[in-house]
Amino acid sequence: MTHGKEQNGGFSPVGFARFVLAFGLLAWPSVAGAEPRCWAQPPGWDAGLRLPEATDINPDPRVVEVNLEARIASVEIVPGKTTRAWTYDGGIPGPLIRVHVGDRLIVHFTNRLPQPTTVHWHGVRVPIQMDGVPGISQPEVVPGESFTYDFIVPDAGLFWYHPHVMSAAQVGFGLYGALLVEDPDDKIDVPDQLVMVLSDIDLKADGSLESPETSGSAGMAFGREGDYLLVNGRTHGKLMARAGARQRWRVVNAAKSRFFDLAAPGVSFTKIGGDGGLQEYAETLKDLVLAPGERADVIVTVDAKPATEVMLTAVLYNRGYGSIEARAPVEDLLPIVVADAAPIAPSPIDFPHRPIERLDTTGATPVTMKLTIAQLFDGSFEYGINGAPYATSTPFHANVGETQVWTIVNETAWSHPFHLHGFFFQVLDDKGNAVHPIVWKDTINVPFKQTMRVAVRFEDRPGNWMIHCHVLDHADGGLMGTIVVGDVIAAHHAHEH
Ligand code: C2O
Ligand code: CU
Ligand code: CU
Repeated sequence: MTHGKEQNGGFSPVGFARFVLAFGLLAWPSVAGAEPRCWAQPPGWDAGLRLPEATDINPDPRVVEVNLEARIASVEIVPGKTTRAWTYDGGIPGPLIRVHVGDRLIVHFTNRLPQPTTVHWHGVRVPIQMDGVPGISQPEVVPGESFTYDFIVPDAGLFWYHPHVMSAAQVGFGLYGALLVEDPDDKIDVPDQLVMVLSDIDLKADGSLESPETSGSAGMAFGREGDYLLVNGRTHGKLMARAGARQRWRVVNAAKSRFFDLAAPGVSFTKIGGDGGLQEYAETLKDLVLAPGERADVIVTVDAKPATEVMLTAVLYNRGYGSIEARAPVEDLLPIVVADAAPIAPSPIDFPHRPIERLDTTGATPVTMKLTIAQLFDGSFEYGINGAPYATSTPFHANVGETQVWTIVNETAWSHPFHLHGFFFQVLDDKGNAVHPIVWKDTINVPFKQTMRVAVRFEDRPGNWMIHCHVLDHADGGLMGTIVVGDVIAAHHAHEH
């Protein structure tokens, strides 16, 4: 985010802060009578990371209308090498789309890829027609064709968009972007804000895209990770910080398989929100774990000596069989350059509580979903829900207005970030009580050989909604199903049971 231009004449607090930074005359908090503020990051602190933004072509302040094109474009991921990546508007990630809660978002999407695709708005409570699932909510957008997405954005938070056709391949090739839904009444007084899209990409030595099918069926069962870690599409991003000064990061894990566990010496994360906006109350974490598809809203403070550098690292995360053996325990992700300026003594912030009512589960319908894996006669693997891969699955069912409690049992050797389209859920403990702080979720990690419970209320929006693992190889390998809300029966399943 920019703070606007410094003004000539008149008092500009930003200009003043920069003056103080440049000359080191005062520590900001000692300015007589001034509230200690949080926007004292060094000038250009996020320039090495900032995302391009989609241009709103609609003059109506409550309508954001953008064009979006999926196309192959040359990007430089490995310095000096060209990658012909699959992109939205020519970049990885795609442009940041910024709207206000309650706005209408219109996206004129055109497919210039050599393959059909769609755009799915992950986490957004859209009507089913706008959910971007081919054969269920819309036809595939074939090469050369367009589709207009048009919906009201009902919830504040960080969301994201990605294809729902050959997802492992298309997302892995670079198709994803962030959708930031801002709340003008947000009381979090940390204006230095940054959207961070975490991902990875698998490249050959010459910089070209690696096949999405490496290691065959075993690669699918594991979930293929890319070998280059990206923050906002960059392997060589950079962030600047002033010691003690707060930054607010809105982070999404857009990787097709990789879990991110972020940590850095002296860096603390105060998590204030998750998938569906602000959470019940803030919690301070030493590291921040994001499974594929998940988002976090965190206040970050760097406690380090001025004029040093701290490295934000990706700590190796155990997501099941073979995921930690013979691998580096940490990988460098993003250098944070600590400004040569007096540290700011962080003043305590009272993060506002968000009263999130726990879903009433009395009389809720219990549903069990076992995440399964089978080895077929030819030796290949097939994931499923309750033993059935997507292709032969029977839809789950819910009535409009119904509350269900899902027990998601992971019988496999790999963790599965389980995602529901179109609705949020709340996580329950093993006694069925809400886990605090309550946060609206659309993706929850179900660790290998473990069980998670969630409560979900299908408040409206009848339709046929997807459930799937967000390790996209797993989804494509069968770990996907549907839930029919209301009495819509999708063509796909109409004659399968
Ligand atoms: Cu990001 Cu079907 O999901
Ligand atoms: Cu989704
Ligand atoms: Cu999975």
